[in-house]
Amino acid sequence: MQRLGIDLGERSYDILIGLGLRKRAGEFLKPVFEPSRVVVITHPSINDLYGEEVAESFIAQGWTTDIIEVPEGEFSKNLSQAEKLYDHLLELNCDRKSVLVALGGGVIGDLVGFVAATYQRGIPFIQVPTTLLSQVDSSVGGKTAVNHPKGKNMIGAFYQPRLVVADLETLRTLPQKEYRAGLAEVVKYGVIADARLFEFLETHYKEILNLDHKPLSHIVETSCAIKAGVVEKDERENHYRMILNFGHTFGHAIESLTEYARFVHGEAVAMGMARAAQLSHSVGKCSEEVPKRLEALLKNLGLPVDMPSLDSSAVMESLYHDKKTMDHKIRFILVTEIGSIEIVDQMPEEEILKVL
Ligand code: NAD
Ligand code: GLY
Repeated sequence: MQRLGIDLGERSYDILIGLGLRKRAGEFLKPVFEPSRVVVITHPSINDLYGEEVAESFIAQGWTTDIIEVPEGEFSKNLSQAEKLYDHLLELNCDRKSVLVALGGGVIGDLVGFVAATYQRGIPFIQVPTTLLSQVDSSVGGKTAVNHPKGKNMIGAFYQPRLVVADLETLRTLPQKEYRAGLAEVVKYGVIADARLFEFLETHYKEILNLDHKPLSHIVETSCAIKAGVVEKDERENHYRMILNFGHTFGHAIESLTEYARFVHGEAVAMGMARAAQLSHSVGKCSEEVPKRLEALLKNLGLPVDMPSLDSSAVMESLYHDKKTMDHKIRFILVTEIGSIEIVDQMPEEEILKVL
């Protein structure tokens, strides 16, 4: 098992990565916090697969443990679902020493984190991420949110978990499409911060697609270490943390203009990263080699790179609604070389239109 720390003063916590860890979640929580009770929140299908094992690990510590199910899908990340969870927690008499356990992917993690941040002004929660995306990205860093009809992640809070327990074994039941989507975020870390990780992906993509343990644990650990380092420097995204949004500016536009139905998040990010690299080259920030290598790697990982046909003015409109856009200025994360990026505070519309 690998133990990484994220140093955020009194909000610091460990990220544990390894095989079979879900069955030991209670043992890992014990030295961190002694809860009055534990509530595991998950989707029905994940409950069938792992709910009992995870709950048993808390029961073994002598803690009263309940499981609450939430329907799957992005649609569950909303205020009415959060309200149902508050009702349930009140019925269970959960108090400020109760611990919530987010067992699932980014949808569960974001929703449970948000409920933990707001129930009785904040109660502890831990993340037990079961998708690759949530293991390398969403479970670390404390961004919690629900969606609003007018935009994704519009209602939320920065609220850190007390612990992250990433069990690589759970990825074996994850659909291929979801697994590949998580790989898009791993590629992102290579582009923004680590040329060696990028090269590792170029060399080992077949083993990684095959879920071979050694390369898989290497990419999860490296990704978490990069994310932890970024969050330690800028927890509340005043500026630097925006680098984690490489590819997401176009990606979010693609997701919202296709009603969050045609692509999963990582696929939209893959297309977004390919466009962002093209844009970086077309404004002279990087050589032609950079978008070429990025597209080749994404294709090898089975990810899409070409934008779907979308109305350019609708894409521009969507970019103006991006959370990074301030004072009507579209911010972009551009790549200068693999492993190195630059935040550009105002990208002219005509440059963006050239790569759409
Ligand atoms: P998800 O949570 O919807 O999970 C994808 C699907 O996989 C679901 O149907 C789920 O039930 C299923 N699943 C999960 N684990 C499984 C397993 N081990 N075996 C079989 N099936 C399994 O999707 P996701 O990609 O994990 O997360 C996407 C969400 O994460 C989005 O809402 C996005 O906004 C959010 N996100 C948040 C952050 C952050 O920093 N907080 C970062 C990136 C993305
Ligand atoms: N996924 C982007 C962030 O955590 O900042």
